[in-house]
Amino acid sequence: MSPRVSCCAVATTELVKGVRTTRSTIALKLLMAISGIVFILFVLVHMYGNLKAFSGHDAYNEYAEHIRTVGTPILPRTGALWVLRVVLIVSLVAHVASAAALWKRANRARPVNYQVKRNLSSSLSSRTMRWGGLTLLVFIIWHLINFTIGKVNVSGGATNDPYNLLVDSFDTWWLTVIYLVAMLALGLHLHHGTFSSLQTLGYTNTASSRQRARVAGWVVAIVIAGGFSLVPLFTLFGVITK
Ligand code: HEM
Repeated sequence: MSPRVSCCAVATTELVKGVRTTRSTIALKLLMAISGIVFILFVLVHMYGNLKAFSGHDAYNEYAEHIRTVGTPILPRTGALWVLRVVLIVSLVAHVASAAALWKRANRARPVNYQVKRNLSSSLSSRTMRWGGLTLLVFIIWHLINFTIGKVNVSGGATNDPYNLLVDSFDTWWLTVIYLVAMLALGLHLHHGTFSSLQTLGYTNTASSRQRARVAGWVVAIVIAGGFSLVPLFTLFGVITK
């Protein structure tokens, strides 16, 4: 083989490798965007459902029961809830695995850190996506132990009544602080995540669509994180009581 041919063969192989890497990076970003949108829809509905706590003990517990019986008798009791749980678990695995793969790729592409990193134009939310995401993962594990899998009443009270468990939990100031910090992390994550997923899906190609995507990021973050914070805050301040 002449040197010229071998040089071109090497260059072509590198080019093909590069195209494959770019394609799989796009696939990973799409997976992040789609699983992220599943989460946005879930937290929006979950936040709205939590507001039932303002309607009092019976209305809230009726709602908690309704979540378990929705779809019956076609589905068994908790059948629809299990479909939702499976969708959430699959989305979580896809979201975390693609984030880890993209994180690894970014580190491989820049093995040596920037000597000076000024972050002049990036927002706080975009800079905290990785650590904020990990914080949320730890929060979600605790949250499920708190209210679903373990049902832990930190005040020592009963755990068999969903409304009372909620009120006892947020009557405990330090637990409310933990939830509010988690909601701040959630707000930051949603702010950049919403913009980022719209970008991946190709909705930020013009100046006006970028502006719209930025506004969408703010709206989603404020409505969801703000809405979630209401129940813990109003319980701590004695508006939502047993
Ligand atoms: C202040 C914020 C939040 C409050 C007060 C709250 C409250 C609750 C409560 C009371 C339950 C139990 C519902 C029941 O079993 O009847 C629950 C379940 C759950 N929450 Fe939250 N939640 C909050 C934020 C979040 C966030 C940010 C996520 C993120 C994904 C989340 C994910 C879940 C999941 C996956 C379940 C389990 C649903 C199931 O499979 O039974 N929650 N939440």
